[in-house]
Amino acid sequence: MKLLHVDSSILGGNSVSRLLSADIVAVEQARHPGLEVTYRDLGAAPIGHLSGAHLAAFQGAAPEEPGLQQDLASGLAALEEFLAADIVVVGAPMYNFAISSQLKAWIDRLAVAGKTFRYTEKGPEGLAGGKTVIVASARGGFYGAETPAAFMDHQETYLRGVFGFFGIADVTFIRAEGIAMGAEQRSKALDLAKGEIAKLVA
Ligand SMILES: Cc1cc2nc3c(=O)[nH]c(=O)nc-3n(C[C@H](O)[C@H](O)[C@H](O)COP(=O)(O)O)c2cc1C
Repeated sequence: MKLLHVDSSILGGNSVSRLLSADIVAVEQARHPGLEVTYRDLGAAPIGHLSGAHLAAFQGAAPEEPGLQQDLASGLAALEEFLAADIVVVGAPMYNFAISSQLKAWIDRLAVAGKTFRYTEKGPEGLAGGKTVIVASARGGFYGAETPAAFMDHQETYLRGVFGFFGIADVTFIRAEGIAMGAEQRSKALDLAKGEIAKLVA
């Protein structure tokens, strides 16, 4: 069994999503002895943004830009890692109401027609079903359905949408909210999130 652990916070040791994603991986390791874990740190080793040259090369044109071959290879490696995983744990901070640009660049390499989705006469069809995705979500404010800022959440809604588009129905969010609202709230949010992580064992 394989687990892919992806972090995307730019806050290093102060990151809440990194703390929580590591806890989730530890729980999954305890649940599945022998679990093979691959770690990808998109903060330390970001994947480059897509470019026109990249897309042209991907569609068969000879890569002309220096480094493009390497870029294509690392994008394909990210895709293969994702496809091979049974469980994917994603550390996803909210930055400016959305996911980090590092995480978006990773997703851009996963959204490949014929690999994670395809278009059929009946509409799009996900090809990467059967996985479990667990997202460690950290955000400064509160974005629950009952809050006035709910409509500003383009982080969890985006991730749920894109993983659903890939055919993945089993997506769980572990949330730490109100991280920017003082030490007490931060500590409360971490405790709540850790409680939710403990429940994953059940
Ligand atoms: C560049 C940046 C942008 C942020 N934008 C938002 C935001 O739009 N909404 C929000 O609620 N919190 C925002 N925050 C607060 C983060 O969501 C919060 O610090 C969270 O813990 C980030 O996850 P991390 O600690 O894993 O990096 C932002 C933080 C940073 C550093």
